[in-house]
Amino acid sequence: MCGIVGALSKGPVAELLVDALKRLEYRGYDSAGVATLENGRLERRRAQGKLRNLEELLKSEPLLGNTGIGHTRWATHGKPSEINAHPHMTDDVSVVHNGIIENFHELKAELLAEGAPFTSDTDTEVIAHLVTRELRAGKDPVTAVFHILNRLQGAFALAMIFQGYENLMIVARQGSPLAVGYGDGEMFVGSDAIALAPFTDKIAYLEDGDWAVLTREGVAIRDRMGAGVERPVSQSQTGGLVVDKGNYRHFMAKEIHEQPEVVGHTLAHYLDLANSQVNLPALPVDFAQVSRLSLSACGTAFYACLVAKYWFERWAKLPVDIDIASEFRYRETAMQPGGVALFVSQSGETADTLASLRYCRQQNQQVLSIVNVQESSIARESNAVLPTLCGPEIGVASTKAFTCQLTVLACLAIAAGKARGVIGPEREAELVKALVEVPRHMAAILNDEHAYEALVHSLSKARDVLYLGRGSSFPIALEGALKLKEISYIHAEGYAAGELKHGPIALIDEEVPVIVIAPRDELFDKTASNMQEVAARDGKIILVSDADPAATGCAIQTALSVPSVHPFVTPLIYAVPVQLIAYHTAAFMGTDVDQPRNLAKSVTVE
Ligand code: F6R
Repeated sequence: MCGIVGALSKGPVAELLVDALKRLEYRGYDSAGVATLENGRLERRRAQGKLRNLEELLKSEPLLGNTGIGHTRWATHGKPSEINAHPHMTDDVSVVHNGIIENFHELKAELLAEGAPFTSDTDTEVIAHLVTRELRAGKDPVTAVFHILNRLQGAFALAMIFQGYENLMIVARQGSPLAVGYGDGEMFVGSDAIALAPFTDKIAYLEDGDWAVLTREGVAIRDRMGAGVERPVSQSQTGGLVVDKGNYRHFMAKEIHEQPEVVGHTLAHYLDLANSQVNLPALPVDFAQVSRLSLSACGTAFYACLVAKYWFERWAKLPVDIDIASEFRYRETAMQPGGVALFVSQSGETADTLASLRYCRQQNQQVLSIVNVQESSIARESNAVLPTLCGPEIGVASTKAFTCQLTVLACLAIAAGKARGVIGPEREAELVKALVEVPRHMAAILNDEHAYEALVHSLSKARDVLYLGRGSSFPIALEGALKLKEISYIHAEGYAAGELKHGPIALIDEEVPVIVIAPRDELFDKTASNMQEVAARDGKIILVSDADPAATGCAIQTALSVPSVHPFVTPLIYAVPVQLIAYHTAAFMGTDVDQPRNLAKSVTVE
């Protein structure tokens, strides 16, 4: 998603802003730009593509100025191009924006009728023209911005600087995240604490509806009505984290390899290892009294929820409603007051998940969330937060966040099972032991990485790939297909193995690789008969399993051997092979693994 930075500094800011933008690269972007004030005049540089294009441009055409704003764009309105890149500006104001102005057609028509000279296809440019109209009518910048903010509908974060005002920046937040950073005689803004890390670790998060007037001396934050408000200033932990690839070729590879460590770290937080028990923080929920649990999320986080549905129903006998957040938010679901809704999100800023959370709060649900970014909107708006402790995830394709989400969900399912009298001490110790062994088994799979590299020659030539799984391996089939398509651009679909003969079997011929996630569990024989159906149609089976391939009773083209584990934890273990298959295929094909085309890390628009 778009990234915003801004600085009122003591020295030239352009280079600093680009450095900060680099830390937002992980969000995905297609163009970037910077504007500064030079002797009171607004100047900007913009470039399509990677940040290095903007850096090159700034070398040949430097920007001076101690006051500036910067932006990485992820196109919503108007194709990726230099003219659509931010900042957008008139002679009077320059603006960077993250989000969508939903009523921009109406505003643009109004401004065009008055002769405003538009130069881009973006929704953002209406903001520059609206402010300019107010300034030219004689208003000062603060009054002008206050006046136009209530004309903007949609979700947005904004930062603006003004011709002739060296010591002024105005920012606003409505739905998209924005943080203010406090320096010594300097002030900063950024989309998140990671962007602000080069400048400061003293950070205040704006709330929805807040707008703020920054000078080098400080910030005055106001609410929607214009009344002054205080937002707590906290010490961000992000600054000390090194955001680099280490010895890996891609962040995604590094993050896949971090899983034994971060899953272990997350387990240590939620388990009492000495007593083989779960050890969750106090929650405002008594699972013994809960009649239904509703789960909602997007993408990979949704697949984590889908695994959790199997866990909660099997191990806690707790009925689960589950929905994709973008569907849930508009379904007007009837909810029993006092129910429990659980949201899962790496970024904690996904617009659809946040909107679903707000709907549930209106329905008097207790809202729990599992998030990785603890200072995020979803975390702040939940009644209780269960953090995943995987550190910043930079690769756009989620890997370690997924397995850490599963880890927390597994601990929560055990806690719910205990509270509901389904799980006794022995069963608890058995499941906790299975979880504790997960990092070791993940490491064993990672040590066998060459087996996955050997697959890439044939997989990279495939036009379509099918993934099959049963039970809690079905969501892993879905996740495997999502990983492959998003980073290699090969079409892939995940199916419940039992669904095969209800349609997808028509796709199978000798050209289609079929990746089967089949732990040797109580469903293995059923999945084996589906494999036989595939083999009978010359499909090329790649088996991911701890079983002897001969046990399938059919020809297996490639067998990827996985350690035998307790059936409870198979989703955690089998997530790793599907990540490795996708990663090595994409790396071999030479795609932009960490920033796949068209994708964004944090989806703050719906
Ligand atoms: C896929 C992926 C996405 C995210 C989804 C939700 O690899 O990363 O599908 O899982 O956009 O994002 P969060 O978890 O930030 O809410």
